Order: sequence, then C-alpha cells, then structure tokens
Amino acid sequence: MKGVILAGGLGTRLHPLTKITNKHLLPIYDKPMVYYPIRTLVEAGITDITLVTGGNYAGDFLRLLGRGKDFGLTHINYVYQEGEGGIAEALGLCEYYIDEEPVCVILGDNILEKSIVHAVNAYQAQGNGAKIILKEVEDPHRFGVAELEGDKVVRIIEKPQNPKTNLAVIGVYMYDHRVYDIIKTLSPSNRNELEITDVNNRYIEWGEMTYEIYDGWWTDAGTFDSLFRANRLVYNKAAAEKRLL
Ligand code: G1P
Repeated sequence: MKGVILAGGLGTRLHPLTKITNKHLLPIYDKPMVYYPIRTLVEAGITDITLVTGGNYAGDFLRLLGRGKDFGLTHINYVYQEGEGGIAEALGLCEYYIDEEPVCVILGDNILEKSIVHAVNAYQAQGNGAKIILKEVEDPHRFGVAELEGDKVVRIIEKPQNPKTNLAVIGVYMYDHRVYDIIKTLSPSNRNELEITDVNNRYIEWGEMTYEIYDGWWTDAGTFDSLFRANRLVYNKAAAEKRLL
C-alpha cells in the first residue's frame, strides 16, 4: 500500500501565521505539523510516500524533509498543486506515483494519538473498495459527518448545519485505484473544491465503503482553536511518556 500526504492549501484560516509559511510547517509542540502524518503512515508500515503541497513555500518541504531520513525513509515523492482545488484534486495529481496500487491518504493537518495499523491491515484484507475512519466529536458541523444504518455508512454530509450524528470522518482514507476515475468525474463544490466527501459517497453508492471507529484522540489543526488543541494534546502525550521513563 502506498501513502499520500496532502499538505497544500493557503491556510487562510490561520492568517497571519500562514502569511510567511505553509500551515503544515507550523509547530505542533516540538515538531513541524507535517511530521505527525508522515509518522502515522510510516508506523503503519507505509513507506512509499508522496507529499502534495503548493503555494509559495513548497521548497521549504524539500529542505525540511529531504528524502525522509528522519523517518527512516530513503525517498519521498513531491507533487505541486497549483491553486486551491481541494483534497480530491490533490489526490488526483498523485495518480502517476500510485498507479494501480491501493493508497492510504492522510491530511497533513490531522494529528492522531495512536497507530492506524489496524485499519490499514483491515483494508488490505478487504482487498478493494474504500475505508474511512470515524471519531465522535463535539463539533461535527466542522467536518464530514457520517450517517450509519446497522454496520454500514449510508451517507456522508460535508459540514452539515444540523448534523444527524456526531461521527466525524477523520482525514485518513483508503482507496483502490478506481479513485482516480471517480475524481475525474467530480464537479467543484460551493467552496470551489473537488470534495473528498463526494469520492467517499461514490464508494458508498457502490456498496464498497467500510469504516472503523478510532479509539485514540484525533484532531485537525487548521484553525486557531484546533491548532492550540493539537499542541496541548501532543504536549500532554509527550509529558505522560516522559513521566513513565
Ligand atoms: C476536510 C474534509 C472533511 C474532514 C476533515 C478532517 O475538511 O473535507 O470531510 O472531516 O477534512 O480533518 P477541511 O479541512 O477541508 O475543512
């Protein structure tokens, strides 16, 4: 399974912090944000990684990450996304590197407490289709929200005003190679982006979407509040680990 990290966008919700750098290079406790999703993939055994970024600071990723030595990698692929076309567009740009293989996509501002290896192994056993990971949150209107019937996801609504559940779709997605065909059929949403939620709903229509509930803490870091929260959670985790030493 190959991995994709999406670290594009202009991070306008974090101005002025992102006027002079990319959101994913901002610090989360003692490391740049992008380190966390890279580590999440590597710890799940995914070492063939493509990073998508854009904007004015793309070169800083190369200087920071190089070939990925800090993560025990020998190579990282880099893809440049022009403009703000959305998560699905960014994934579409990776087709060349992923080819026919299944892919695990992680958003560059998603920070997870624990390993995703269980979900990755379950997806590999599943063989094709797609898999998402859900987490109960207090502010579901900020996310893609999943509606369930029995053990099936029947619908995902992107940032609903009146969410029917509190199950957020976290920014970790697993797809087979048909994801690129789906992306080519998408139209831009109200915010003028190709939405990953539209991709997920297509797999749901096909009856080929599975899900797992995540059992650690999870946060995004794209707003001042969630960036602060991410720092606090990572600091608390590091402090707890130090106390155990
Ligand atoms: C994106 C997705 C959303 C998902 C979230 C997770 O939101 O569109 O479905 O729940 O990431 O972080 P965005 O960061 O684009 O607002």
